[in-house]
Amino acid sequence: MIDLQVSVPGGDYPVRIEAGLLTQAGGLVEEVHDGHRGLVVMDENVREAHGDTLLSSFGSSWQLARHDLVATEHNKRIETVASIYESSLRAGLDRGSLVIGCGGGITGDVAGFAAASFLRGIDLVLVPTTLLAMVDASVGGKTGVNLLLPDGRGVGKNLAGAFWQPRAVLVDPLVLSTLPTRDVRCGLAECIKHGIISDPGLLEMIAADRESILAVDPDTITALVERAVKVKVSVVQQDEREAGGRASLNLGHTFAHAIEPLDMLDLRHGEAVAIGLVAAATCSHRLGRVDGSMVEQTRNLLEAVGLPTRLSHPVPIADLVAAMRFDKKTRDGQIRLVLPGPRGVEIVDDVPEADVHAAWLAVGAAD
Ligand SMILES: NC(=O)c1ccc[n+]([C@@H]2O[C@H](COP(=O)([O-])OP(=O)(O)OC[C@H]3O[C@@H](n4cnc5c(N)ncnc54)[C@H](O)[C@@H]3O)[C@@H](O)[C@H]2O)c1
Repeated sequence: MIDLQVSVPGGDYPVRIEAGLLTQAGGLVEEVHDGHRGLVVMDENVREAHGDTLLSSFGSSWQLARHDLVATEHNKRIETVASIYESSLRAGLDRGSLVIGCGGGITGDVAGFAAASFLRGIDLVLVPTTLLAMVDASVGGKTGVNLLLPDGRGVGKNLAGAFWQPRAVLVDPLVLSTLPTRDVRCGLAECIKHGIISDPGLLEMIAADRESILAVDPDTITALVERAVKVKVSVVQQDEREAGGRASLNLGHTFAHAIEPLDMLDLRHGEAVAIGLVAAATCSHRLGRVDGSMVEQTRNLLEAVGLPTRLSHPVPIADLVAAMRFDKKTRDGQIRLVLPGPRGVEIVDDVPEADVHAAWLAVGAAD
């Protein structure tokens, strides 16, 4: 079993990776948590194929209740957290109890926020079931929900939440056997982001192994998850609460968060990130921070694994720039972007609007 340790002020915990690990989940949980009462917040799309395997791995001393979740961005909201509180009360959870989040990034973010706030915080274990959640969302302690923006401006991503580290992250690559290929690709968008941040070899691995990754071959997925998680662990260990370097993980995300909520584009988070990575690279090139080949390499790799790099509809740039101002990095109304550059990926203040505009044009937005 691969065992990667995360060590941050909010807690030390393992990310354990092994094909078939779900059958041992109960025992692994007992290594990090003392109680025997918990609530399993489970993605409805995971329940049928993997729910019983997870639940039956817990011994008879456990009292586990289940809260099923329809994992959509629409449901990633405070009312869903409130309904998890209600399930927690019905199940008699106390301060010694546990929340287990079993699903993709939406399930982990919502279950994590419920665990962070119920009784002012109880233990959390995450069992990610999408590639995206394995390599990114379940590691690092960010939890939260979306908020509705004022004046009918749509959805603001992840605008309420908390940092709350899990006690363990349990990764079983076999659960990806039921994940639609579209969602496997979404996970690859975050892996490519990690490669750009600090591991060019990861980009080579994705290019070379893309067929077996998309076929969710367990050995290839294990190697990919291990390598991508190492990037995430190294970033969050240096900066748990995003005071500085952790912002690099937001590469492409200020662009992505502006397009992800638009129904007409029908983009999953990872797809929006893919387009955002191209926009960020283009913006960086305009600012003279990277050369044109970096933009091309990024676009080519994303397209090689089947991810979108352009908008399917020409959304007006003015609307997208207005949405970007609700990004959490904005200060005094000034858009700040996370961009690649000669010293690695970093926050850039005062990006001229003309360059943001050009970046949007390059991914198919309308003047
Ligand atoms: N907390 C963080 O640090 C962090 C980092 C990156 C992304 N995120 C968040 O993660 C979310 C995206 O995560 P995601 O891509 O995992 O989306 P998701 O949770 O919506 O899962 C994608 C789809 O796959 C289904 N699914 C999940 N596991 C499955 C399985 N094994 N078999 C079949 N179907 C399965 C889900 O029901 C859903 O339809 C976004 O809300 C994003 O903001 C959080």
